[in-house]
Amino acid sequence: MKRNWWLLKKTSRDVFKRITKRIQSFFFRPTVEKLKNIEYQKLPSPVNWSAIAQGRSLQVEIGSGHGEVLLANDSARSVTVGYEIKARFYLLTKRKIRKRSDVFVYKGSGYESLDLHYAPDSISRIVILFPDPWHKKKHAKRRPITKEFFEKVYPYLKSNGEILIATDWDDYSKFIASQANEVTTKYSVEDGVYEAPKFGLPITHFHQKWIRKGRSFQYFLLKKRT
Ligand SMILES: C[S@@+](CC[C@H](N)C(=O)[O-])C[C@H]1O[C@@H](n2cnc3c(N)ncnc32)[C@H](O)[C@@H]1O
Repeated sequence: MKRNWWLLKKTSRDVFKRITKRIQSFFFRPTVEKLKNIEYQKLPSPVNWSAIAQGRSLQVEIGSGHGEVLLANDSARSVTVGYEIKARFYLLTKRKIRKRSDVFVYKGSGYESLDLHYAPDSISRIVILFPDPWHKKKHAKRRPITKEFFEKVYPYLKSNGEILIATDWDDYSKFIASQANEVTTKYSVEDGVYEAPKFGLPITHFHQKWIRKGRSFQYFLLKKRT
């Protein structure tokens, strides 16, 4: 009984939060300046990214680290939004991109916010390079790249939208493959040896680090089926 009451309270609080965010987003007129300075928690739901992108494609990067992917964004073709949970990396990147109007970074979890910050059918590509592997067995359940994640983001990808993941961790590769195999009705799945230029991406900080350590790299590309 107590648990039901707690659940009801939590659900109504979540519903209330979502409604408030929808109202905010109706009145919020996005400008680059506003979106650059707003905190993750205060972003409207959804953000009107199409007003910012103006015909360019919308790319999302989860775990933007030192910001190489954001810095390499081709401003004529795309707008890239990064999410980073580590304060130091976030602040470093925010400083590097301060003069750019085609790239944004937020301090918060990218895995949790895609259904809040984006309109359906809006994202062209989600990039996740070298996600934390959670390599200890007891931590494996914290891995956020799951079939539930693939299902959750499906409506927010454009009809030809894709999810690109690269990892140097063999066990994580197997885990991602197993999760991707569960969603083949929604996505076609391609995998292979990851090479950044193949995807028009720079060599990132962690990629460089793992190259020096002689590691090998695997990618997964999930393309939305319509
Ligand atoms: C191994 S680093 C890779 C960084 C960068 N992608 C690269 O290739 O250099 C993983 C990054 O993901 C970030 N991260 C982990 N969980 C995250 C989450 N839920 N949302 C956003 N970033 C996250 C970490 O803070 C870290 O910077």
